[in-house]
Amino acid sequence: MATDVHRPVNPQVSQVSDRPQASETSQVSQVTAESGASPVPPVPQAVRVEGLTRSFDGRAVIDDLRLDVRQGEFVALLGRSGCGKSTLLRILAGLDRDIEGTVLVPRRKAVAFQAPRLMPWKKVWRNVLLGLPGRPERALADRALEEVGLDHRSDAWPKTLSGGEAQRASLARALVREPDLLLLDEPFGALDALTRIKAQRLVGELWRRRGCAVLLVTHDVEEAVLLADRVLVMDDGVIAHEQRIDLDRPRDITDPRFAELRAGLLARLGVDTAAEAA
Ligand SMILES: Nc1ncnc2c1ncn2[C@@H]1O[C@H](COP(=O)(O)OP(=O)(O)OP(=O)(O)O)[C@@H](O)[C@H]1O
Ligand SMILES: [Mg+2]
Repeated sequence: MATDVHRPVNPQVSQVSDRPQASETSQVSQVTAESGASPVPPVPQAVRVEGLTRSFDGRAVIDDLRLDVRQGEFVALLGRSGCGKSTLLRILAGLDRDIEGTVLVPRRKAVAFQAPRLMPWKKVWRNVLLGLPGRPERALADRALEEVGLDHRSDAWPKTLSGGEAQRASLARALVREPDLLLLDEPFGALDALTRIKAQRLVGELWRRRGCAVLLVTHDVEEAVLLADRVLVMDDGVIAHEQRIDLDRPRDITDPRFAELRAGLLARLGVDTAAEAA
């Protein structure tokens, strides 16, 4: 069932903080539109955002946004181009701190972008370890590469990888950080259809195995319904709509309920599915 998400009522102090670790985070009561007087059982949160505003040149791209993601939850984020999805992801990743509002995220988080962003002068395994503190051992990289099925290319130079392989190397670089929150910004956007399906399955498997929270930005409604527990639609600087996906996994795209959820989300995005089918 669809729910419209409310804006926060309390003004928030400006604060961006990394939570110590998911296991150390305090339990936060889930706030719902109907919460009112009846107490809701506490739900462990991976992400809590309240009153978030981000402006560029005086224009608020994100405007008093609220977002909660539970520990271990898979959330997909849709929205028209330029609505602020990457801006939100960058803020959650700690890459942009010029904000107003409250942002609470786990300390251990990792991000993968549409472009794999591998350093061409470093071999794949060194790219995977890039930016880790101390002197991490190669075995750490090789284990992560094995997890994404790329251990046989550990010694390769990035320019010799296919698009799908480079994206898997980028995922390995994220996984090696043992994230409690994995942020993915259109990670499959540049892949061909078959490689994309394989990469989607891989992310689904990694999520199940690792149990981390995932926030996946995508333009692909089918991908969102295939993978997520909850799909959010961003518009006008806020989360304007949310849709819980209660279908069993693995999901069947030929299931009529799948098609119904997909059509509902497309309608929210302003796509006329009747015209699309014609
Ligand atoms: N550093 C910046 N300086 C000025 N404007 C910016 C900056 N970063 C983002 N913007 C603007 O903020 C708006 C949101 O950008 P953002 O990249 O978050 O959109 P998006 O939803 O990810 O779009 P897409 O789906 O095309 O990737 C856009 O209008 C963009 O031009
Ligand atoms: Mg973007």
